[in-house]
Amino acid sequence: MKIAPNVPRLAPIPDGLVAIGAADASFEPALDLDELPAGAMRRVTFGDLDILLAHTSSGIAAVDDRCPHMSAPLSIGYLEDCIVGCPLHDGRFDLATGNVERMPTTGGLLPDGTYVPVWTPEGNTRVRRMRYYPVRIRDGRIEVAIPS
Ligand code: FES
Repeated sequence: MKIAPNVPRLAPIPDGLVAIGAADASFEPALDLDELPAGAMRRVTFGDLDILLAHTSSGIAAVDDRCPHMSAPLSIGYLEDCIVGCPLHDGRFDLATGNVERMPTTGGLLPDGTYVPVWTPEGNTRVRRMRYYPVRIRDGRIEVAIPS
């Protein structure tokens, strides 16, 4: 009996969140598969584009390695299942859906002196949408579609 090779899944890209120009971009080699075990994150760089590769519980995902809050590198944060945590203000983002799981811990004073506590939800802290890059696996390597 033939045993199927243990190839990791690829995380589906949430609707509408493909990075501009990535849908029909060419694939570039990024990492060997064994460099990204389950639960790991790595930054890969193509020119001036930094990509976060994350091996989540939904599969391997590639997004900008910039927090959607204030652009901190998510690759030095942490990964729990599908949730990536930002090292700067502890925002948490779901890589399976692209949604915010916890708003960043910013707070402080508004220009008029009004105090805004941390953990204040939408309305006082702006968060951009995550942007995803298509991923594929070829010959034991993870490849990412990089816009030219
Ligand atoms: S920069 Fe990531 S939560 Fe603020």
